[in-house]
Amino acid sequence: MSQSTEAQRVAPAPPPQPAQPIDLGWVQHLMDEEFNARDWREANELALLALMEIQEHWGYCSEDAAAVVADHLGIELQRVYALLTFYGDLRTTPRADNVYIACDGAACNVLGSGQLVERLFDRLGIIRKGQTSPDGKVTMEIFSGCMGACQIGPMATVNGKAYGNLTPEKVDQIVNELLK
Ligand code: FES
Repeated sequence: MSQSTEAQRVAPAPPPQPAQPIDLGWVQHLMDEEFNARDWREANELALLALMEIQEHWGYCSEDAAAVVADHLGIELQRVYALLTFYGDLRTTPRADNVYIACDGAACNVLGSGQLVERLFDRLGIIRKGQTSPDGKVTMEIFSGCMGACQIGPMATVNGKAYGNLTPEKVDQIVNELLK
């Protein structure tokens, strides 16, 4: 990877989670034991907590696991899928060994991070944040807050290393290395 795009080191990304299929019996047991709602309002609140707990344990939350959550809480499946895809911290597939986190905070957004994200989606063959490329090599995440390096925006971290002043060409260069 070119040194010219490398700006500085930041906190390393969390280690990749082992890619195990989620045991749906485990999910059902979790729901039976810990997530029993008294009414629809509580059911909606518990749904997000349940998804987060599943991800905490397995490293991701599959759509099958979300279906168990929806069924147990008596919530429409579409509603639970919407939670899964809305929250940037939740992902439906395991993290790959390579994690690209694009900053989409206000400053980076003004500097064109949205366009770079679209390019990444195309290059990686994914359609939304939190997904892993079909070859399993790269997980793409988006951080909606500020990553604290606006002066080099638009920026991103790749496996914990910060890359700044990104352009479509620099993004291509980074992705080419990751997909080798
Ligand atoms: S908004 Fe991206 S680093 Fe501040």
